[in-house]
Amino acid sequence: MSISRRRFTSLTAAAIAAMTFQSRAIQAAARETGLKDAFKDDFLIGTAINKWTLEREDSTQRDLIAREFNSITAENCMKWMEIHPEEDRWNWGPADQFVEFGTKHGMHIVGHTLVWHSQVPRTVFQDENGNPISKERLEARMQHHIATVVDRYRGKIAIWDVVNEAIEEDEKGWRQSPWFKILGPTFMERAFQLAHEADPKAHLIYNDYNEHNPGRRNFLVERIRDYKRRGIPIHGVGFQGHIGLDYPDLREYEDSIEAIAAEGLAVHVTELEVDVLPRPSSFTGAEISAVQQYADKLNPYVDGLPKEVEQEQIDRYKRFFELLLKHREKIQRVTFWGMHDGESWKNNFPVRGRTNYPLLFDRKLNKKPVYHAVAGLGRT
Ligand code: GLA
Repeated sequence: MSISRRRFTSLTAAAIAAMTFQSRAIQAAARETGLKDAFKDDFLIGTAINKWTLEREDSTQRDLIAREFNSITAENCMKWMEIHPEEDRWNWGPADQFVEFGTKHGMHIVGHTLVWHSQVPRTVFQDENGNPISKERLEARMQHHIATVVDRYRGKIAIWDVVNEAIEEDEKGWRQSPWFKILGPTFMERAFQLAHEADPKAHLIYNDYNEHNPGRRNFLVERIRDYKRRGIPIHGVGFQGHIGLDYPDLREYEDSIEAIAAEGLAVHVTELEVDVLPRPSSFTGAEISAVQQYADKLNPYVDGLPKEVEQEQIDRYKRFFELLLKHREKIQRVTFWGMHDGESWKNNFPVRGRTNYPLLFDRKLNKKPVYHAVAGLGRT
């Protein structure tokens, strides 16, 4: 065999080996499915995404999000205070980036949130002299805000959280927010009408926490019936799903899923996580001298989550997902409030600076055992 022939043979072998390697890698990538695939016959699987994840150069987390989730919610960048910090100033950059990311990956994009009493500049409710604004002017501001934001992303944002947290628990009725106090109870239906006018194809939802609470549920069902009678465009209800190891009662949660679906509305679980830390209320009454001890008791897992607590969380997540799967035809989407433990708001609420483990990925972006337990309930 001549030298050139030998070289030709060995090059061919190397090329074949490279091609085989490449095609195996392609096959592996195709097999590498995420949570969205495990639940593809059940509901959309989403995550909240923050601006740092979108901005940072390293794309590892963004790549994981694209593989695992088929829906994203803006964690903060579309809240009034962020996107519209002053009457004549708009901050579109982070929201545009968020929408571009979701569009690029063909995701269901959720806009969060148009009308809320929190994370909104106080000046929205004030006139030039700092006095409470008139009903007419506040309504005009709400109209301008909703029309501008919804129109900018028309056709790109599939779902809008139109109103967030407007109802009290325990049959107390409307939350006494500035929206309610100035505009009266019709502020909510007005917001839905305005969002619908700005994007008639968008799916419009009302979003709240502790949605298992029967008083809140009953009040909301009454409003939905009234809205439907009068043709107010409301299409779904968001159950935030900030749950813990021992709350809420899942039977009450199920009652609420059924009650909303019975009105013909879609249920969305919008902000799910399972908090594993002790609740401060269990420790009220600690003496001042015991403050440090009290702080340690509230933050017991700084060095890692004990196996038995991890197992409790796995069991809780499984029971919760089993309930959701039982009602899969009523539930359109399940969104986690963040992707990994390190970025969860639960490290800072209701007590600042704790180490919590509420999500399915750890601080290094690895899948936790609870990820596999949840994904295993899906059908792929
Ligand atoms: C509520 C809001 C979310 C978020 C969480 C806490 O649930 O709807 O936007 O602010 O509180 O992070």
